[in-house]
Amino acid sequence: MPRLFFALWPDEGIRNELFRVAQATQPGTGGRLMRRENLHQTLVFVGNVAEPELPALKAAAAPLDLPAFTLQFGHVRYWRHNRIVWAAPLVTPEPLGNLVKALEAVIAAAGIRYDQRDYQPHVTLIRDARAPAESTPLDFEWRVRDFTLIESAHDGRRVIYRVIARWPLAD
Ligand code: 2AM
Repeated sequence: MPRLFFALWPDEGIRNELFRVAQATQPGTGGRLMRRENLHQTLVFVGNVAEPELPALKAAAAPLDLPAFTLQFGHVRYWRHNRIVWAAPLVTPEPLGNLVKALEAVIAAAGIRYDQRDYQPHVTLIRDARAPAESTPLDFEWRVRDFTLIESAHDGRRVIYRVIARWPLAD
């Protein structure tokens, strides 16, 4: 059964920016860096989906006709409860909130269950971390022109994320 989630998948430039911040922050946290190629921002975590439900999930997302938007990254934060260091946009643009709500609605309408937690946009940079002593500055824009469906797999040693579908946002 594939384990799936919808996400914003960065291009090479944004991925490098995020990884640079992660590397600069990691010393002193004792944490585990996320691999560069795995960096992403989750929109909706769906979890295990039976293989026959996959076409319905893709068909649900396909008709969404929503605008592109820009994320202004400006701070690194820490969550004590799950020991994650994360990067986030300074504000959640309205089109991002609308995209998440629209996805949740079409997933539910397709009769598929998903993880219904309050949405906090974030890119996990470091896991199993102590709080960073000081904040690494970051200041870049991520123009989001599409969103993706990701499969999370494991090759026995590590997590592998695979983009299995991608849909454009109107730019
Ligand atoms: P995290 O980085 O804050 O752990 C793949 O696991 C992605 O889905 C991660 O970005 C993870 O967020 C997110 N996610 C959201 N809800 C999840 C859940 N219930 N289980 C696992 N991952 C979840």
